[in-house]
Parts: sequence; structure tokens; C-alpha cells
Amino acid sequence: MGILTAPMQQALTEQRLIFVATVCPDGTPNLSPKGTVMVWDDDHLLFTDLASPGTMRNLEQNPAIEINTLDVFARKGYRFKGVAAIHRDDDVFDEIVDRMRNGTVTLQRLADAVRAVALIRVEQALPLESPAYWSGISEAETRRDWESYWGNVNASWHAAQSVAAAGDS
Ligand SMILES: Cc1cc2nc3c(=O)[nH]c(=O)nc-3n(C[C@H](O)[C@H](O)[C@H](O)COP(=O)(O)O)c2cc1C
Repeated sequence: MGILTAPMQQALTEQRLIFVATVCPDGTPNLSPKGTVMVWDDDHLLFTDLASPGTMRNLEQNPAIEINTLDVFARKGYRFKGVAAIHRDDDVFDEIVDRMRNGTVTLQRLADAVRAVALIRVEQALPLESPAYWSGISEAETRRDWESYWGNVNASWHAAQSVAAAGDS
């Protein structure tokens, strides 16, 4: 068994958004989202470079990386620290593009746009949990509260769209 436990691998497979932190040459942080996270094996995860010149430039010079993933309903996630290797025009690259061609509709649409694969050897993996759990609230209650919150946010967006469409007509 590697460092990535079964629940971590499940989270990385289910979640469609990770945040990736790299180090710029001047020492400042660079944080950007990636929607193409995948598990490679028990010790490695990856994302694809579609439009991340800053992240990739940083990794070429300094492979240190931290990745966070979060379930916005459970308010739980993981943070992973490791070292990235960039793959272009090799077996890893081909396998990932192949996986995307056979993946969700979104991944299929992006497969031809992959410029490189950042394969990360995870050296530290820690859980993340909202301090709201300190009150003793359960995950089921937390999920119910945040499903309601995001449902309302979404409903407001649709309501505003309807008003705008009525104004146009
Ligand atoms: C939801 C979301 C998912 C994204 N997924 C990816 C991705 O998987 N790969 C990628 O290269 N860019 C992705 N992007 C775009 C980059 O995050 C964006 O171009 C960013 O400015 C790159 O900054 P960087 O060069 O500092 O990494 C995504 C953006 C968003 C908002």
C-alpha cells in the first residue's frame, strides 16, 4: 500500500477540481485550479497541462508542489505535498490522453488540448476538515446545510438569468 489511501484515491477520482501551488523563481507562491486530476497509482497523482504556463514553468525549475482537493458539501478534503515530473510525448502522456478520450464528455473534449502531464510523487498526504466540525455537527448535517446553500446560490443565478432574458425580449 502506498501513501494514497483508498478514501484519498476516491476523493481524487470524484472531485473535478484541485488547487495546485507551485513556487515562482522569485519565491512568491503561484496557485491555480486544475480540473483534470487523476490517480496514477498508490503513490502518484497527476493533472494535465492545458493552459498552465505559470505552473509548468515553475515546475521545470522547482518540482515542489502542493495540491488541495475539497468536497464543498462535506467541507472535507486532502492536501498533498510532493514532487512533479513533466511528461511530454512519452508512454505516460499517451496513456493519459487515451484515458481522457475514454473518460467523461468534458475530458473527451479536452484530450486534444493536452500539452503535458504533471505526474506527482506524493510525499505527504494529510486530511482537511472544516473547523465547523468542532461543534460536533455530523457530516450528514453538514452536507444538508451546504447542499441547501449551493442550491440557493444556483437558484439565484437562474432567477437572474430569467430576469435578464425577459428584459431582452
Ligand atoms: C475549473 C477550472 C479547471 C481548470 N483545469 C485546468 C486543467 O486541468 N489544466 C490546465 O492546464 N488548466 C486548467 N485550468 C486553467 C488554469 O487554471 C488557468 O489557465 C490559470 O490561469 C493557469 O495559471 P498558471 O499558469 O499559473 O497555472 C482550469 C481553470 C478552471 C477555472
